[in-house]
Amino acid sequence: MTLNRAEQLQKSMTLEAALDGLPAKIFVLKNAQGMRVSLMDIGATWLSCEIPVGKEVRDVILGVNNMSDHRIQEAYMGATVGRFANRIAQGKFNIAGQDFQTGINQAGNTLHGGPAGFDQYRWAAEQKSDQQISFSMCSKDGDQGFPGNLQVTVNYCLNENNELSIEYLAETDKDCPVNLTNHAYFNLMGAESEHDCLQHQLMIEADLYLPVNESGIPLGHFNAVKHSSFDFSEAKAVGRDLLSCAEQKKTAGYDHSFLLKDSHQDGESIAAQCISPDKKVTMNVKTTKPAIQLYTGNFLSGTPNRQGGQYQNHSALALETQFLPDSPNHPEWEQPCPILAAGEAYSHRTCYQFVIN
Ligand code: BGC
Repeated sequence: MTLNRAEQLQKSMTLEAALDGLPAKIFVLKNAQGMRVSLMDIGATWLSCEIPVGKEVRDVILGVNNMSDHRIQEAYMGATVGRFANRIAQGKFNIAGQDFQTGINQAGNTLHGGPAGFDQYRWAAEQKSDQQISFSMCSKDGDQGFPGNLQVTVNYCLNENNELSIEYLAETDKDCPVNLTNHAYFNLMGAESEHDCLQHQLMIEADLYLPVNESGIPLGHFNAVKHSSFDFSEAKAVGRDLLSCAEQKKTAGYDHSFLLKDSHQDGESIAAQCISPDKKVTMNVKTTKPAIQLYTGNFLSGTPNRQGGQYQNHSALALETQFLPDSPNHPEWEQPCPILAAGEAYSHRTCYQFVIN
């Protein structure tokens, strides 16, 4: 009997121990439409996403096959990223007059929560049904330099509309920047197909994007997408204007945050839409977050794939729903506050819907 991807990962991901000496735990969600999602307690990671397309089954997110490869990869594939997704310049911020310094792990800045972010944690998992699982953990006061004991829960739920929704809940006992996201990379032709992300059609409901320096730190102002290579307000191929301007050359492709229109931050409207080159799969992204980071996998090359080989640059794209990068240092942007106040509830959700034509 041939195993499906999720069954296969349940075996292959658990052969070797994770960093804490114990094997990872793998869980599967499935629906009656034939969609199957597998998840891992290390990093509350989304490992695979199988969707039936005619007679074929496509796994539309990138991933690895075993724990050694998981440890080597630095791409955060499918991981839950926190405490603060994206960058904090020099790992510095100030809350109510107090300066904080977080761990530096990329080009002098804090990226995706610092050297030991939430992607490396073992989360407590509770599978509630075939379609729901809950991961939770506590990050202690001072973890990676962040203030406050932060209690976090991430709920994954798959429904019969082929929607995987990810709900992020958190609470802290000291004010702290919190920005939780998932770092899945999508290739709607299938992660193991010959196709990269460049022929995918992409639409993002944004009028503005945030220009950055060579290290991905925002310059401070917003640019209009109109009349630029960043205009995805109507669907276009991801590769059409790739690397066609100085802003993108700094980051070897798209690696930028798009500020979603106010009307498209409600978790119900389609904030971004991606369509496979053969038009058989459409992915709709809905979110309560104000921004989406489009990352076209500019540095993916060398990342282990599931077949003993390696992914290439642009093998897939990430659409990371989040607060704007370095937003704790930019109150003048007048965007939703990325500082979670002590005792307040952090509650956000993002839904990825796969429509099969
Ligand atoms: C960042 C990229 C980074 C990637 C993997 C993305 O969210 O914006 O610059 O290379 O994550 O760490």
